[in-house]
Formats: sequence, C-alpha cells, structure tokens
Amino acid sequence: MELRIVHLEKKHDKSKFTCGYELLDNYIRKQARQDVNRDLSACFVLVDNHDTVKGYYTLSANSIKREEFLDDLAKKLPPSYTELPTILLGRLAIDESIKGNGYGEKILLDALNRSLAISESMDSIAVVVDPIDEKAQNFYLQYGFILLPTSGKMFLPMKTIKEM
Ligand SMILES: CC(C)(COP(=O)(O)OP(=O)(O)OC[C@H]1O[C@@H](n2cnc3c(N)ncnc32)[C@H](O)[C@@H]1OP(=O)(O)O)[C@@H](O)C(=O)NCCC(=O)NCCS
Repeated sequence: MELRIVHLEKKHDKSKFTCGYELLDNYIRKQARQDVNRDLSACFVLVDNHDTVKGYYTLSANSIKREEFLDDLAKKLPPSYTELPTILLGRLAIDESIKGNGYGEKILLDALNRSLAISESMDSIAVVVDPIDEKAQNFYLQYGFILLPTSGKMFLPMKTIKEM
C-alpha cells in the first residue's frame, strides 16, 4: 500500500476514519474542511491510492504566554515578548487499520519539517502540541517534546527540529 501526505481536499474520503478517539474522528470527518475554508488551520492527510484518509494532522499559528514557558528558557528572551510565537500541531492521528507501522512517526516528522520550513520565513520559537491523554504524551516524549507543567501542553524548540 502506497500512502502519501497531501493537503486535505474535498475528494478525500474521511467518512470511515477511526483512530479510537471520537473527538479526533469527528474532527476529520465533520470539522476539518470547514476550519481549512475559514483559514483557521491547515490540514494534511495521509491518503491511499483511493484517496481514503488513513491519517492526518493540523497546523496553525499560535502563541504561548511567556509565563507558561519554562523559566530557564524564558529568561534568555527579551522581556518585551510577553507572548512567544509558536506553531500549533493541534491534532495528529492514524487510522486503527494501519497503527504500529511507522505512519505516526512519518506524519509527525512531516509536520515538524513543514513547521521548520514555515519558521524560516515567519519566525517561530517552537512546535507546540496538546496531547489528548498520557499515551499521546508518551508518544511525543520519544521525539524530545518537553512538558509545560502549567498547561499540560508540550513543545519542541525549533532549534532542536533543525538538528533532527
Ligand atoms: C499516537 C499515534 C499517532 C501513533 O501512530 P502509529 O502509526 O501507531 O505510531 P508508529 O507506528 O509510527 O510508532 C512510532 C513510535 O511511537 C510508539 N508509539 C506508538 N503509539 C504510541 C503511544 N500511544 N504511546 C507511546 N508510544 C507510542 C511506537 O512504539 C514507535 O516507537 P518505536 O519506533 O520505538 O517502536 C496513533 O496511535 C494514534 O492515532 N493515536 C490516537 C490519537 C493520538 O493519541 N494522537 C496523538 C496526539 S493527540
């Protein structure tokens, strides 16, 4: 099976997407296209030769409050920056039919590379994720994401992504 990562389009069949989390299933089935059309977030899908969606992630511009950021990192930044520009990897999921075959890693790395490319023209300090539960947190920990204790969000500095 050959799978590619492309922008979400109308022709893609997302009606049967199932990752085990209703929230994430409903999002791609019912909401993602609307958010793309309203310029709220970009959505990239992993599709097979029949244009069936087997995985997806979303990206949007975002910021995190300076006080949310870890002290040792925040203190190196000029105090005038009360909000730090970030890219939000809002959602990421793989269909149950292909889980455990490296596709989660494939779309995560695609999201990180894309974020790095964006940050080259519009600076951004990190990629931020908001893991849905502890399992998701463990998934991101493997790739070096750092937990922000106050919000439960996690971030990966753009500097680290550059070195990956
Ligand atoms: C998390 C998820 C994206 C992983 O997708 P996947 O295709 O099964 O993952 P991969 O096969 O690419 O695995 C990559 C690595 O992550 C590990 N991994 C996979 N799922 C994991 C989980 N839930 N927790 C911890 N580690 C996990 C794998 O063991 C593998 O590590 P290894 O190479 O050392 O063996 C997928 O299980 C999913 O869609 N889960 C539901 C939604 C979710 O949790 N999204 C994440 C953030 S909201």
